[in-house]
Amino acid sequence: NSKARQLVMELARQLNFHPVDMGPLSLSRYIENIPIQLFPGWKGPVLAAVALSIFFFGYSFARDIIHPYVKHKQSDFYKIPIEIVNHTLPSVAITLLALVYLAGQMAAAHQLYSGTKYKQFPHWLEGWLQSRKQLGLISFFLAAVHVLYSLCLPLRRSERYLLLNTAYQQINANVENSWNEEEVWRVEMYVSFGIMSFGLMCLLAITSIPSISNSLNWREFSFIQSTLGYIALLIATFHGLLFGWKRAFDEDAYRFYLPPSFVVSLALPVCVILGKVLMLLPCVGHKLHQIRKGQDTTNQAELCEMHWINHLLTDGLQEVIKPLDILT
Ligand SMILES: Cc1cc2nc3c(=O)[nH]c(=O)nc-3n(C[C@H](O)[C@H](O)[C@H](O)COP(=O)(O)OP(=O)(O)OC[C@H]3O[C@@H](n4cnc5c(N)ncnc54)[C@H](O)[C@@H]3O)c2cc1C
Ligand code: HEM
Repeated sequence: NSKARQLVMELARQLNFHPVDMGPLSLSRYIENIPIQLFPGWKGPVLAAVALSIFFFGYSFARDIIHPYVKHKQSDFYKIPIEIVNHTLPSVAITLLALVYLAGQMAAAHQLYSGTKYKQFPHWLEGWLQSRKQLGLISFFLAAVHVLYSLCLPLRRSERYLLLNTAYQQINANVENSWNEEEVWRVEMYVSFGIMSFGLMCLLAITSIPSISNSLNWREFSFIQSTLGYIALLIATFHGLLFGWKRAFDEDAYRFYLPPSFVVSLALPVCVILGKVLMLLPCVGHKLHQIRKGQDTTNQAELCEMHWINHLLTDGLQEVIKPLDILT
């Protein structure tokens, strides 16, 4: 009874509560469960992050710990707490970031294929699209922890011993200056790209706070989340590529025939960036733009084809064949 509901709401308001009308009584079984649910929207993204973490940790463990142990009886187990974790965290972060934008591309492909934006997405894609905020925030969290780990790399005792040993070997070899211009530039560039990408991810995370996102209009929010988000992914990919540099082509880097972890972690981001380039091509982009504006081409496919034939003909044979007026 809507009148009774209004009355109860008014009573609640007078008691200084903020009533929200959640529908008829039959919905109460769902509503009552809401306060006892534990992060319902986060289950899929968290599971994806855990699965990817296990994969990347196992991958780095096999390559960087097991391989030297099996091949040279060298114990590098000390690398587990920081180095292996710091391979795993950024690899998962960048893969999740790529998954955020892959969902949009799948949606675009679906719309292009069906020629309309009014056809419902499949269930799995709908769920994936709705999980993008959570996927993005987990990616941001892992990237932030990666930054902290990276900043602490020089603090480790192992790093100091390695540095001292290298210095000793250098003195023995009578090498006065070991400056390597290419290495210097590589590290300067990849750290700089990392910082820029992380800066943009911070911006994305800030704008996802409801009080901030509510103060932005749709275009502003979409510019930050979509355009700047893609730029963050692009820069993070450059960061990873510069970190890896030529190691992808180095035979020694392939342990147990497995490529370095950065090659595996950058495969999906590179595909997503190429997918975006494809979507920006005028022939694809224009069609997608029309569909998003509300054009429904499902009934007009034939008409469209005829329109293009007509267009070609009118360009070349304007004098001979008259344009089909009904189409224009
Ligand atoms: C740190 C961080 C925080 C994030 N916070 C949020 C957040 O708070 N909220 C959030 O939603 N996401 C959030 N994300 C995820 C992501 O940034 C956004 O979802 C972003 O908008 C995705 O951009 P896109 O270009 O892939 O997709 P979109 O611009 O959403 O487009 C996806 C697809 O939807 C379709 N589409 C787009 N426009 C239309 C239209 N007008 N009509 C019909 N169909 C259309 C198209 O097929 C398109 O390809 C966050 C990510 C990160 C890394
Ligand atoms: C302040 C920002 C950042 C700094 C200082 C930084 C620093 C580093 C360092 C030092 C490494 C090498 C780690 C090693 O020696 O094993 C590295 C690798 C990497 N970083 Fe970052 N990073 C930053 C931000 C990011 C961000 C935002 C991402 C992506 C979301 C990212 C993704 C990667 C990837 C994929 C690798 C390669 C990991 C591997 O395969 O070993 N980084 N970064």
